[in-house]
Amino acid sequence: MPGIKWKPEYSVGDPGIDAEHRELVDLVNTAAAALLAHQPDDDIQSAFGDLLRAITAHFALEERQMRETRYDQLQPHKDDHERLLDSLRDLMDEPRDGETAAQALTEALEEWFAGHFRVHDSRLHRKLGPH
Ligand SMILES: [Fe+2]
Ligand SMILES: [Fe+2]
Repeated sequence: MPGIKWKPEYSVGDPGIDAEHRELVDLVNTAAAALLAHQPDDDIQSAFGDLLRAITAHFALEERQMRETRYDQLQPHKDDHERLLDSLRDLMDEPRDGETAAQALTEALEEWFAGHFRVHDSRLHRKLGPH
């Protein structure tokens, strides 16, 4: 069954950030489950809406922290956030057929999470120190 399992290597070493990242993973899984269960379009739309809102809020927080601390990798980090938002919007626009759409969503997000947490977020949160 499609879904993202949290892996220890996703941890960025800050329990608060890891908790936020876990919430994002849970919201991806909720949206994937709604697709798989062929839930009504409104429910699917609302699961995607929750996911998009949570991701946008999380990115805004990190980007504010980067600006406030004049973080040296702000642009590449922000570009990678934009890349995810673009692909999430594309996934939302595509016609939805349960299993295929659920698979496409989890694969795209899992790949992005794995790379982004490891490359960008772990570096950022190391630099910021405990916060
Ligand atoms: Fe990030
Ligand atoms: Fe993050």
